[in-house]
This record gives sequence, C-alpha cells and structure tokens, in this order.
Amino acid sequence: MAHIAILGGGPAGYVAAIRARQLGAEVTLIEMDALGGTCTNRGCIPSKTLLRSAEVAREARELDQYGVEGEFRGINWPKVIQRKDQVVGQLRKGVELLMNERGIRVVKGKGRLVESQVIGVETEGKEETVSADRVLLAVGSVPARLPLPGFELPGVLTSDEILNLPQVPESLAIIGAGPIGVEFADVFSSVGAKVTLIELLPRLVPLEDEEISAELARSFRRRRIEVFVGAQVSGVVERGGKRVVQFTHDGKPREVEVELVLSAVGRWPNTEGIGLPEAGIEMNRRAIKVNARMETNVPGVYAAGDAIGGILLAHVAFAEGKVAVANALGQSREMDYRAIPSVTYTHPEIGSTGLSEAQAKEQGIEVKVGRFYFRAAGRALAEGHREGVAKIVAEAATGKVIGGHVIGPRATDLIHEVVLAVQLGATAEDLGEMVHGHPTLSEPIKEAAEDTLGLAIHK
Ligand code: NAI
Repeated sequence: MAHIAILGGGPAGYVAAIRARQLGAEVTLIEMDALGGTCTNRGCIPSKTLLRSAEVAREARELDQYGVEGEFRGINWPKVIQRKDQVVGQLRKGVELLMNERGIRVVKGKGRLVESQVIGVETEGKEETVSADRVLLAVGSVPARLPLPGFELPGVLTSDEILNLPQVPESLAIIGAGPIGVEFADVFSSVGAKVTLIELLPRLVPLEDEEISAELARSFRRRRIEVFVGAQVSGVVERGGKRVVQFTHDGKPREVEVELVLSAVGRWPNTEGIGLPEAGIEMNRRAIKVNARMETNVPGVYAAGDAIGGILLAHVAFAEGKVAVANALGQSREMDYRAIPSVTYTHPEIGSTGLSEAQAKEQGIEVKVGRFYFRAAGRALAEGHREGVAKIVAEAATGKVIGGHVIGPRATDLIHEVVLAVQLGATAEDLGEMVHGHPTLSEPIKEAAEDTLGLAIHK
C-alpha cells in the first residue's frame, strides 16, 4: 500500500487525506493547529456565522415592514461570538471524526520537509520523522501585512483577530475591499459600528464584474457604510486613544479616526520555515510552483490549496487536493479552473463564475450579455429583496454560456446553475428553455439567459 504524507489539515489537506484513503493509500496527516485549517477555524465558517447574526439583526429592525409586531432591542455580542465558537467547534470535531473513521493517522505538530519524501515533525519537544512514498504540501496561507507605518499598533487587526472581539467597536476602518473587507463591513455595520471602507483600486470587490461592484456600492451607501475607492493608505497613527488611518483620496490627504482598524489586503502562502528551498522545491515568490497535475518540480512532491497561490478559496483547495492525490496514486488528472464559483456573503450576496464581459472582450471573444433585476422577480419581492441583478455572458458565435455574475439574495447558491452551464458547455438558450420553478430566486438567471437572445419575458 502506498503511503502518502500530507502537511497541513485544512481544506486541501484533509479532503486529500480522505480521497487518498478512498483510493487505497495509507495516510499520515500532519497538523500543528486545529484540523479544518483557516476555513473552519478562522475563515469561511466563523465569518458566515457572524454574517448570519448580522442578517438576523437587520431583519429584526424591519419586523414592522412584514406586519410583525416586536422590537429590536440590541445585540448580545458575547452570545454572537459564543454561537460562532459552537458552530466552529462542531465542524472541527466533524473533521476530526472523519479522520478517525477513515483510519487516517493524524500527527500533531509543526512539520518541515527534511528530504523530498521525509517530513520531520516537532511534537511537544520530540522530533518524529514521517517517511512516505508521496508528499502533499497543503500548508495554506496567512493574512498579508502591509509594510506601512502603524500596522503593528494594537487595535490594527487582521481577519484572525477580528473574529474574537470582546465587544462591537463604535467605529471600524477596513483597509481593502476584497471578499474579507466587504464581508466584515457587512457584519460590523449591521451590529451598530460606524464602518469606513478604504480600497486602493477604483471599486469595491475589484475582481468582480464592474456592474456587481457598482450594485454593492449602492447597497453599502444605503446602509451608510462610508466608502473610499482609489484611496492610497500611507499609515496608521495613534491619537488620543484612537487609531487614525491616513490616506490620499482624490488627490487630497484625508484621515479617518476610529476605534479599530481591520487590515484585509489579501493573504500570503504560508510557506516560510518549512524547508522548501532546502529540498529544492521551486517557488513562485511565496507560492509553491505546481503544474496542472499539482506536481512540484521535485518528483513525488505535490502541493495544493492556498500554498500554491492563484485562487485562494476553500472549494478550490478541496478540488486541488483531490487532483493531487489522484495523480500521486497513479491516476492522471488535471485541475480545470474554467468554472470556479466565486462566492461573497455580503447582503446582497455575490456569486460569479467564468468570464466577465470585460475579460471576454480582453480575450477577443465577442459576447452577448443578458441582465435581469431581482426587483422584477416575484419570489424576491415577496421576500422583501429589491436589490440585485443577474448577468449572463454568452459567446456570440456559439451562444455558449461563458460567464455568470449575480448579486442578490442567495446568489452564492444560485450561481451553481451557471457553473454547471459553463462546465458542460450549455448555451444561453439551454438555460432559458430549462423550466425553472416559479416563483423562485433562480428565475432571474433564466431571464438573463433569455435576455442574451432578446427574449426575456418579464423584463
Ligand atoms: P483580496 O486580495 O481579494 O482583496 C484585498 C483588497 O485590498 C484588494 O481589493 C486590494 O486592491 C486592496 N488593497 C491592497 N493593498 C491596499 C492598500 N494599501 N490600501 C487599500 N487597499 C488595498 O484579499 P482579501 O479580501 O483579504 O481575501 C484574502 C483571500 O481570501 C482572497 O483570495 C479571497 O478570495 C479569499 N476569501 C474569500 C472569501 C469568499 O469567497 N467569500 C471570503 C474571504 C476571503
């Protein structure tokens, strides 16, 4: 039986461990912290529980609108945190249980590559050596730190620390409006903090389609989140017990004085100090360089997840981990990144996949674009959702769906219909002709697909 050693028990590592067992390998998983990695413990899951509390708080303030009598009396923040910890704890235990039940040997400790197929693990002062036929590096990522003055001050936090605040700050400045920045802006503005978002690029969620950014900006403005885009931060200083973020906006120096600052300017592969250069592993700056089979340049050593850079998402890590072990155990598979869903859990939510209109144009692909607004969909209105749009991008020559961009209620779930279409090469006509339940939130996608053909019904 082949033995595979996996360094890191996050989404890439633990999923790869299970798949490797399914394929008949003996597996040792090395993890220095909690199983489940960033996603379960400090990322996807805890942030989603806070976002749910935020959503309930917003709805509680609007009870009257639904003819329900009652009154919003405030936020019990310690309870919000307690609920988050419960959910995280339960899921972490779930991963532990899966490892146990699958017969995966888990070694607790910090591992480093000693030779290409040997990992040394420091476990409570002892050093254990794990030798395997194949090694998978799935060491994840850590919050990036800006090399600017003041970012080391107390009260300037990363996404790791902000998840455990003892109370809601009265004011919060968030630097960076990628998924982390906008999700925390949503959480803290909903529970009563005054939030200011400061983004270097000219729009919120700059990796999304421009119309999606614009719709989110409108929604955030309505909710009185102050937004500065195209803003260059120069540093943070302390003044009178407050933090002052200094930046340039519209050519003018500006500052915002707040209780806390969240730095959400990206994440870096967590690849330092684990023996990679010494073992001859080729790097792409901080990221481990791999090919589409998730092979590094050293035979028998694979890498997956945030550690290889690229798209830093848990579901991408799941997929890469599975591809890596399949290849490590004699199959032949390549990662396919054409239809990866991007999912951001703001209110309204964002789900997108494939190419945006702008990206298609850059690649010289002529496209037809269809749109449908949620305010014209019965189910959305019945549920009280007026914001959002679904946008379908189809290749003009073939009608094939090559991208989808949705901002609106449950967009993170809805986008998977478009993921399927892109993955299987379905046309906009296929999507439009497919019978969708009525009234459902999926209808804007169908109507947007029909709109690429000028055939939307309710527009
Ligand atoms: P990000 O790289 O997506 O966004 C960081 C933002 O900070 C960018 O828009 C960038 O222009 C801005 N920025 C950089 N330097 C700046 C400066 N000096 N001043 C102002 N703005 C500056 O990274 P983010 O949001 O920190 O997330 C990290 C990773 O985790 C990403 O790859 C993201 O996709 C993933 N993630 C995904 C989530 C989701 O899909 N729901 C949720 C959270 C994280």
